[in-house]
Amino acid sequence: MKPIVIYKTKYGSTKEYGEWIAEDLGCSAVDAKSVKVSDLLAYDTIIYGGGLYAEIINGITLITKNLDKLKDKNIVIFTTGLTPSDCRDYYDKIVIERNFKTGVPDNVKIFNFPGKMMLEELTIVHRTAIKALKKMMAGKENPTEMEKLLVELCDHDGDFSDRACISDLIKYVNGRE
Ligand SMILES: Cc1cc2nc3c(=O)[nH]c(=O)nc-3n(C[C@H](O)[C@H](O)[C@H](O)COP(=O)(O)O)c2cc1C
Repeated sequence: MKPIVIYKTKYGSTKEYGEWIAEDLGCSAVDAKSVKVSDLLAYDTIIYGGGLYAEIINGITLITKNLDKLKDKNIVIFTTGLTPSDCRDYYDKIVIERNFKTGVPDNVKIFNFPGKMMLEELTIVHRTAIKALKKMMAGKENPTEMEKLLVELCDHDGDFSDRACISDLIKYVNGRE
């Protein structure tokens, strides 16, 4: 097994998880900015991490546009976000279907970890987007449970990252050695 961790991050949460994972696996963690798909071909296990932004996994097209080239690789995706991991309807139906439009191939396994959102660190564009989302959801007459949760999540201010969350991913990767 020769793994590599690639991460794409805006505020550092996914980078932190990527470095924890790389440390536990004894491999490198590399910023996706400096990675091309051809660089990945030397590895058996490719671990890609991206934060969730409006349900899109940041930078995931590095993987999804190249599934054919990577079909013989063991691919592990991890996302970081604010939506609780037990919101399976949100995660499995919205996030996974939106990012893997033709379904998740057998060689791809996906994990979700709690991330970080420090409101005062956000760019103006992101702060405005969060405010607009909150206003839109809060204005609904008969909000669904998910819409109510989204209103709450807009006020989540903090770092919810937790190194213990990576243990299943590490076990999964080591189990495929
Ligand atoms: C504009 C914006 C949109 C977001 N959208 C989502 C989302 O759809 N689902 C989610 O769970 N978290 C969402 N988040 C939370 C981020 O995914 C979370 O803070 C993540 O840890 C950021 O990772 P990064 O710092 O590595 O980029 C959003 C945050 C911002 C600022």
